[in-house]
Amino acid sequence: MAADELSFSLPCSEACERNKGPILEVLRQWLERGQRVLEVGSGTGQHAVHICRHLPVVWQPSERAINLSDLRRRCQLEGQANGPLGWLLPPTELDVLQPHWPEGPFDAVFSANTIHIMPWSAVPKLLEGSARVLRESGLLLLYGPFHDGGRHTSSSNVAFDQHLRSLDPAMGVRDAHELTVMAAGCGLQAIDDLAMPANNRLLVFRRQAAAASDPRP
Ligand SMILES: C[S@@+](CC[C@H](N)C(=O)[O-])C[C@H]1O[C@@H](n2cnc3c(N)ncnc32)[C@H](O)[C@@H]1O
Repeated sequence: MAADELSFSLPCSEACERNKGPILEVLRQWLERGQRVLEVGSGTGQHAVHICRHLPVVWQPSERAINLSDLRRRCQLEGQANGPLGWLLPPTELDVLQPHWPEGPFDAVFSANTIHIMPWSAVPKLLEGSARVLRESGLLLLYGPFHDGGRHTSSSNVAFDQHLRSLDPAMGVRDAHELTVMAAGCGLQAIDDLAMPANNRLLVFRRQAAAASDPRP
């Protein structure tokens, strides 16, 4: 299938088209050849396909059941149209609220623009699940808009936050400081916070070694 036909037959996110280049460039700094990466909430699959075209990593896309068929179609069709995307695995079902996650260990978990869409009550599940499937020292990479200690970092993020909350009060731009504290409780230490275009950020967490068991009787 020609690339033009593909773009008509598959759902396409314009935001994803804009941010996939900068995300690829920053992921180059964190991912190494052959590493296994789990993507949570892959959406249309544009990130998964773009990254697999340019980075030699084993990429496991995932989505909730409701969005899985479109994601599967993109991964299949783009693979056929553009030659094999050898290290792009078939998408799998994952809802962070459910206990069943793909089997690890993964070297990294990546998720873009999901934290402000899922309810805040789902965020601990995302962090706990990531910590469970990451190998020791593995990375959790969270891309999106965040605010700091309740203070927004730009007027565009204020407008975006209001827009999200008007659609559904459970959605909203999340606080990087709160995330950092919550992640630490799951054994994920914040190690970097990178500014990205359009007032987005990439938050990077490293999975700590599991605490040694208490030797006392
Ligand atoms: C705005 S889209 C982002 C999609 C894609 N990552 C991107 O950057 O274009 C938000 C995604 O979060 C996913 N999501 C929401 N709640 C989720 C949950 N509980 N578990 C897994 N994914 C979830 C949705 O299915 C949706 O694909």
